[in-house]
Amino acid sequence: MRASASAPGKVILIGEHFVVEGSPAIAVAVDVRARVTAERAEGELVTVSSRELGEAVFGPSAGEGPLYPVYVAAWEVVKRTNQRVGLKLTVESDIPPGAGMGSSAAVAAATAAATAKLLGLPLSRDEVAQAALAAEVIVHGKPSGIDPTVSSYGGAIYFKRGEKTERINADFGQVRLVLADSGIQRSTGALVAKVLETKKRHPEVLEPLYKAAASLAEKARSALERGDFATVGELMNINHGLLSALGVSNSKLEELVYAARNAGALGSKITGAGGGGMIVALCWREDAERVARELGKIAVRVIAAPVSEEGVTCVLEG
Ligand code: PMV
Repeated sequence: MRASASAPGKVILIGEHFVVEGSPAIAVAVDVRARVTAERAEGELVTVSSRELGEAVFGPSAGEGPLYPVYVAAWEVVKRTNQRVGLKLTVESDIPPGAGMGSSAAVAAATAAATAKLLGLPLSRDEVAQAALAAEVIVHGKPSGIDPTVSSYGGAIYFKRGEKTERINADFGQVRLVLADSGIQRSTGALVAKVLETKKRHPEVLEPLYKAAASLAEKARSALERGDFATVGELMNINHGLLSALGVSNSKLEELVYAARNAGALGSKITGAGGGGMIVALCWREDAERVARELGKIAVRVIAAPVSEEGVTCVLEG
């Protein structure tokens, strides 16, 4: 018997970085997914394998390497059962890694869900996100928790650290999200640390930006609920300006952001940690192809991603 789970990647529409310090943020799940299968194995060790990253075996002592967070997500679930079990976890992901689409969080959420299903432990969406967050701490150091939460919930969420996550009732039928990858590698943990350090040096300058980011999230939430995507786009543009002020933009990201706007996007901004990775453009459905074509001329990859209403899903097989 094995359990197969899948979880979506994400796009932060409003509030990355600010969310780490307790501002609200808005994220949507997108239909580019990670899949994990979990099977019982002899003994008490956990084998994790991935086509891209090979195979690694973990036990009770602390581990390391790119597959270690997967073990941590599974272990968070196993320890709730008060048993020691051997597992074989197989990971596959269509989400580009390290680009701001929450690939590590989606893998961790799918791992937690598959392990729980295999062991017969019912977990709520919040509990799946909590287990995945333990893995994200290994990957990013000080994550807000928004990535595993949106991956677990699906749809659009209003997220504030330490508070109950709320689903936003929005219909994305008329719009598309077009993502363009700068191809520049970066580390979320290092960028988060850099922003926090800048805030420490200039609190009186940056605190008003955090206040502005909180207002952006509130306004964007009501605009999404009434289907006012022109306003959402405008607020995304303002959000991009705040991220530039935090120091996480660069000339390539600016080029992509302005190319999207010049091609007719309603709004465009860095999504995720910045420093590289992706920008997101919000477009009317009929404009998405043109925006994607223009971005394709200067990006290493363009993804037109439909919003995924479905969060983490899991089935038992065999
Ligand atoms: O770039 P990503 O997908 O790792 O997104 C990080 C979002 C941040 O707000 C910068 C960090 C966080 O933990 O919320």
